[in-house]
Amino acid sequence: MGANERPVSTRTVTSPRLLRGEVVVPGDKSITHRAFIFNAIAGGSATVTNHLRGEDCLATMRCLRALGVTIKEKGEGTAHITGRGGQGLKPPKETLDAANSGTTMRLMSGLLASQPFQSVITGDESLRRRPMARVIEPLRLMGADIHGAANDTLAPLTIRGGRLRGIRYRMPVASAQVKSAILIAGLFAEGETTVEEPAVSRDHTERMFKAMGAKISVEGLRITVQPGVLKPVDVAVPGDISSAAYWMVAAAIHSNANVLVRGVGVNPSRTGVIDVLREMGAKISLERERLIGGEPVADIRVTSSRLKGVKIGGAIIPRLIDELPILAVAAAMAEGATEIRDAEEMRTKESDRIATTASELTKLGAKVRELKDGMVIEGGAKLTGAVWESHGDHRLAMCAAVAGLVASGKTTINEAQAVDVSYPRFWADLESLAV
Ligand code: S3P
Repeated sequence: MGANERPVSTRTVTSPRLLRGEVVVPGDKSITHRAFIFNAIAGGSATVTNHLRGEDCLATMRCLRALGVTIKEKGEGTAHITGRGGQGLKPPKETLDAANSGTTMRLMSGLLASQPFQSVITGDESLRRRPMARVIEPLRLMGADIHGAANDTLAPLTIRGGRLRGIRYRMPVASAQVKSAILIAGLFAEGETTVEEPAVSRDHTERMFKAMGAKISVEGLRITVQPGVLKPVDVAVPGDISSAAYWMVAAAIHSNANVLVRGVGVNPSRTGVIDVLREMGAKISLERERLIGGEPVADIRVTSSRLKGVKIGGAIIPRLIDELPILAVAAAMAEGATEIRDAEEMRTKESDRIATTASELTKLGAKVRELKDGMVIEGGAKLTGAVWESHGDHRLAMCAAVAGLVASGKTTINEAQAVDVSYPRFWADLESLAV
């Protein structure tokens, strides 16, 4: 069941006097998907700890189980997975369901393209609207027999896997999902596979492949993988910076805040949000910086700050793509204008995030002008509580809550259950911080 099919819930948020305390955000969504998918095709067992048990990652686990992979969860925070090796997956008896998760669908496509059986993968209404030609095209170049709805542009995808050949592929958009699908397929191809990105996107696949013994090399924006088998690897999943971003912005814009978010992954391909908030004047400090399982981790402290408007565009966009809606909330509370450009990819997410962020923030009184590839936010308008539609998009629901923490009156969030996709404990954490 995808988040959009869960019982619909409404939440109300008002502005607290204080925002303070500590939170531990759930495990990183991107790393959790990869820990399960890659270990599923490794030859042996591995333990994954602090994995995200959000709807998106549960969808990945269900798909893998349908392919014969054994995943046993012990309590909330530990999962044991027994890989079936590169050629050991079983044909699924039913259509695979990626629910709301683009990462599940695109990474699984790369994997299924290599398997000697036919499978069909679909998703919820939102995922069935999202672009899939971006994975179909390169996988076809590798020799996969893969088709989609609407003239091979949308899910459901029908994939008849088989022998693949390595390709050299220049990606038209910076997408870690597409890059990862190609690299996974590359493990099974004849000859090497090279992908070139237009800008750096999250590199969790490259890091985990290395840790699992794959022959992978990175030269600037070019990544090359040789065919080969993966060794199982235990993964301790760091906290998700995309979830931490809500508390970072909340603390920066609230007038009486001091919040510590513990154990957050600060991989440089994900920290664009910290760079931009600092440029806006946010008081952010990274404490106890350390390395956990090849990924940098830190505790992040943020206190009340006076923010100013900035320009956000160019190569930083893939490093903060999921944080643009919450940065728009920060911009609404800043002095001066913030311009977001080069971010057309926002339109291809769980909702059209340029349209939905602009329309919902406007309901609270913010001055937002939509652009084709971003938006302009005139900061400084007083926010007043109103009814905010999440559009079934987890990130929009969390943005509403943060805006509600600084708006006067009551902010009502419709379809608030959408947060379960990436941050099931969100409302409880909000309650613990708001005094
Ligand atoms: C992700 C990549 C990004 C991001 C998504 C997770 C990943 O998508 O928006 O939430 O885990 O690889 P794109 O690859 O479409 O940019």
